[in-house]
Amino acid sequence: MRTQVGIIGAGPAGLMLARLLHLAGIESVIIENRSRNYIENRVRAGLIEHWAADLLTEVGVGERMQREGILHWGINIGINGDLHRIDFKVLVDKRVTIYGQQEVVKDLVERRLADSGPLLFEVDGVSVHEMTSQRPKIRFTHQGRAQEIECDFIAGCDGFHGITRPSIPDGVLTVFERDYPFGWLGILSESPPPDHELIYSYTDRGFALYTMRSMSLSRLYLQCDHDEDIDGWPDARIWSELQKRLGGSRKLAEGKIVQKGITPMRSFVVEPMQHGRLFLAGDSAHIVPPTGAKGMNLAFGDVVVLSRALEAFYRSKRDDRLENYSAACLRRVWYAQRFSWWMTQILHRFPNESAFDRRRQLSDLDYITRSQAASKMLAEQYVGLPLD
Ligand code: APR
Ligand code: PHB
Repeated sequence: MRTQVGIIGAGPAGLMLARLLHLAGIESVIIENRSRNYIENRVRAGLIEHWAADLLTEVGVGERMQREGILHWGINIGINGDLHRIDFKVLVDKRVTIYGQQEVVKDLVERRLADSGPLLFEVDGVSVHEMTSQRPKIRFTHQGRAQEIECDFIAGCDGFHGITRPSIPDGVLTVFERDYPFGWLGILSESPPPDHELIYSYTDRGFALYTMRSMSLSRLYLQCDHDEDIDGWPDARIWSELQKRLGGSRKLAEGKIVQKGITPMRSFVVEPMQHGRLFLAGDSAHIVPPTGAKGMNLAFGDVVVLSRALEAFYRSKRDDRLENYSAACLRRVWYAQRFSWWMTQILHRFPNESAFDRRRQLSDLDYITRSQAASKMLAEQYVGLPLD
C-alpha cells in the first residue's frame, strides 16, 4: 500500500486528522489495533472546549453533538459544601459542550467511512521504519496477512501506550513528567443531575466531581488511592462516599451504576513531538490529569496544527511549518499542563500535606471564587484558548 499520510491510532487525534486531511485533499490510511466496537464504547471524559466544538461542526461531524450535547456556560466549585458558580458567559462569553468522547469517536468513524477512506481495525504487530527518510514505512498484520504502507509522513496518534513514541531512538526525546499519589474512581449512573452544571468539590474527605452525559445519566468521580482495587468499592460504598463529598451542597439522587473504573493521574510531555517524518499527536506525546478535562481538546489542537503544516507542504512545497510543528503545539500543551496541574493541586488531598497546604488551597479557592480577575483566569483556560 502507498499513501500520503499513514495514521496510527483511531482515537480523537487520528480520526480528526484524517478528516482534516480529507478536506484538504490529502490521502491517508488509518490503522487501529482495537475493534470498532471497542473504541466506540470506551468510556472517557466528555467535555469539549468552545473552539473544539466549533471545529467539529466546521468539519461536518457536529450534527449529533449539536442535538444531544449540553451547553454549559459555567461550573460550580464546592468548598466544604458551599457552592460558588464561575460564570463563563459573563467572564469570557464562551461555553463548553458536554458530549462523551466515545460519541465523538462514533461520529468521526461514521464520517471516515462515508469519506471512503481506509480505516483498518484489529491490526497487529504495528512497527514504524525509516522515519528519517523521505519514505517512512508502517508494517503490521491485518486479517492474518503481513502488510506494509509506504508513506510520505507518519502520524503517531496511538495514545499513551502506543508504539510510535517508543520507536524514536534513545536520546532524541526529553520526558517531563509528574505522577500524582491518587486516582479517580469514576462511575456512570442512571440518575438525574443534582445541578444543571458540573460541581468540582473540595472536601476534607478528598475531591469529588459531579458531571453528566444527559439529563438521566450522571458521571461521578471520587478521589481514591492510586493503587485502589475496584473490588474494594461496592456500589453502596461509592454512594455513601459521594453523598458525603457532594451531597452537602445539592441533593444527590442515586441510580443504577452502569460502568465503573479507576483513572490514574499523570502529567507527561515529550519534547520534541516529532522525529524525521514521524509526528506525535495527542496522548502519544502528552498526558494531563483529568481535572481540567483537557485531553481530547489538546489532541484536536495538535492535529489542526499538523494538518495545516501538511497542507502547506503539499500545496506550496513549504516544510517550515512541519519543522515548526512541535514548537507550535508545545505552547498550548504547556498551558494546558500548567492549568491541569494547578486545578489538580488546589482540589485534592495529598498524602504528606501539612495544615499550611490545606490553608493555602482554601485561600486559592476563596480567591478564584471572589476575585473577578482570578475567576476570569480560570474561565479563559477552562473554556479553552483559541488556536492561533
Ligand atoms: N497500533 C494501532 N493503534 C494503536 C496502537 C498500535 N500499536 N496502540 C494504541 N492504538 C490505538 C488505541 O487503541 C486508541 O484507539 O490508538 C488510539 C489512541 O487513542 P486515544 O488513546 O484516545 O488517544 P488520542 O487520540 O490522542 O486522544 C486523546 O483520548 O486518551 C484519551 O483522555 C485522553 O481525551 C484524551 C484523548
Ligand atoms: C467528564 O464529563 O467526564 C469530565 C468533565 C470534567 C472533567 C473531567 C471529566 O474535569
